[in-house]
Amino acid sequence: MLDASRRWRREGRSIGLVPTMGALHAGHLSLVGAARRENDVVVASAFVNPIQFGPGEDFERYPRDLDRDAALFAEADVDAIYHPSTEVMYPSGASTRVHVSGVSEPLEGTARPGHFEGVATVVTKLFTAVEPDRAYFGQKDAQQVAVVKRLVRDLDLGVNIRVVPTVRERDGLALSSRNVYLNPDERRAAVALSAGLRAAAAAYTAGERGPEKLRARLLSRLGAEPLAQVEYAEIVDPETFRAPGSLAVLAVRFGKTRLIDNHELTRPFPE
Ligand code: PAJ
Repeated sequence: MLDASRRWRREGRSIGLVPTMGALHAGHLSLVGAARRENDVVVASAFVNPIQFGPGEDFERYPRDLDRDAALFAEADVDAIYHPSTEVMYPSGASTRVHVSGVSEPLEGTARPGHFEGVATVVTKLFTAVEPDRAYFGQKDAQQVAVVKRLVRDLDLGVNIRVVPTVRERDGLALSSRNVYLNPDERRAAVALSAGLRAAAAAYTAGERGPEKLRARLLSRLGAEPLAQVEYAEIVDPETFRAPGSLAVLAVRFGKTRLIDNHELTRPFPE
């Protein structure tokens, strides 16, 4: 991978990287589209990163279909797919982890201990393998974006982090590789996440600034949904992920499936 990247670089071509865990959907392909518009060469990675999954999470059952992913990437005009094996990424004895403190601690950090350390470690390794000019991340995983931006600043990685708006189903549900786990009842109930974000954004636009009032709007539909178990619903600062702020963030369980979503309330919903 690095040989190919350095050759492109010598030829004066800019490189955009789209990191993914495969199981592609239109959200991933929107990142590829942005990378395609802004770079001469587009590299996409597909690697289900074991160290960002906690015990009892879905690492084993995470959907994997490299042939389908390769076909979709090819259709989207990706130049190269980086698909390292676990042994290449983490040879036996590998014991170094990248830990971003602060922003990686609240919310997702509390719910999923070690998750962001796994993300920061693999993103650092993807950046050293590809040496991209720009890397593309989805607003869908807003705290991941904040962690990666902090990482790039603190370690002087010199990669321009580009953030792409969340792609949604027609009813508002954010596309996610985990949506396939939802049964039909849970899928119908899952619209309550985006409905809450929409309600909170509408209240914000109408002038509401009280954190508790906005939080109540965020929870309006979820509260009435018996299948939904809310893990957190907060309105936070998009850099620190602590209150106060104007980024509404949600994590909700439907049975065994955990969904997250967010929206910057200063913007119209959907984006
Ligand atoms: P994965 O969940 O496969 O997501 C890859 C990228 O697609 C992430 O940047 C994510 O935010 C973005 N994405 C997911 N759903 C989206 C949607 N509906 N609209 C727009 N973008 C969306 O995130 C990861 O993988 C991993 O943590 C990774 C960064 C690859 C490190 O292992």
